[in-house]
Amino acid sequence: MLKLGVLVSGSGTNLQSIIDSIEAGYLKAEVAVVISSKKGVYALERAKRHNIPAYAVERKNFDSQEKYEDKIIELLKEHSVELVVLAGFIKVLSPHFVRAFPSKIMNIHPSLIPSFCGKGFYGMKVHEAVIDYGAKITGVTVHFVDEGTDTGPIILQKAVPVEDDDTPETLAARVLKEEHKIYPEAVKLYSEGRLEIRGRRVIIKR
Ligand code: GAR
Repeated sequence: MLKLGVLVSGSGTNLQSIIDSIEAGYLKAEVAVVISSKKGVYALERAKRHNIPAYAVERKNFDSQEKYEDKIIELLKEHSVELVVLAGFIKVLSPHFVRAFPSKIMNIHPSLIPSFCGKGFYGMKVHEAVIDYGAKITGVTVHFVDEGTDTGPIILQKAVPVEDDDTPETLAARVLKEEHKIYPEAVKLYSEGRLEIRGRRVIIKR
């Protein structure tokens, strides 16, 4: 059974969609550990309710980014994690972290990459930027994490329309609905050994 380590920072609805997919038998995997970059977030509560070991590891308690990441790496290895799933994790991870799990880290981003992504684009800020720009279509992207910010090979994408009367909140809710379908699907494809990275492209094998 594929062991997942899910990294969170907030409410953890994507974590929940993965847990639900496992419990429904759709996804043959196990959430071995949940690590949050913040104490007291609801994602940690969700983990506890499902008896999943959960930790808050805060950057402010470490002298350097490397030591901070080493602590997260240590916890992931302790729990024998095979795939790291970033689910609303707001800290940018350095190449040091990425090298500890080469091609074994996935991220979900609430836009159609390469639009509205990169440094500073996270959570509600993404949806605000989409509306401010006047884009008619946005969406969701699941991708492998490489050493850049939101630059890794794309696994799955889904388009979502922007409505004239959307606020960032209504748009976020429409996008989130798709996130909750696409993330379990991407993890399932990985667990079945069906994702092959060829340069920048991810081929989905039949
Ligand atoms: C999700 O919309 C996710 O796509 C986004 O944060 C939200 C977390 O929600 N991630 C990013 O913006 C990454 N750059 P959740 O805690 O309910 O899963």
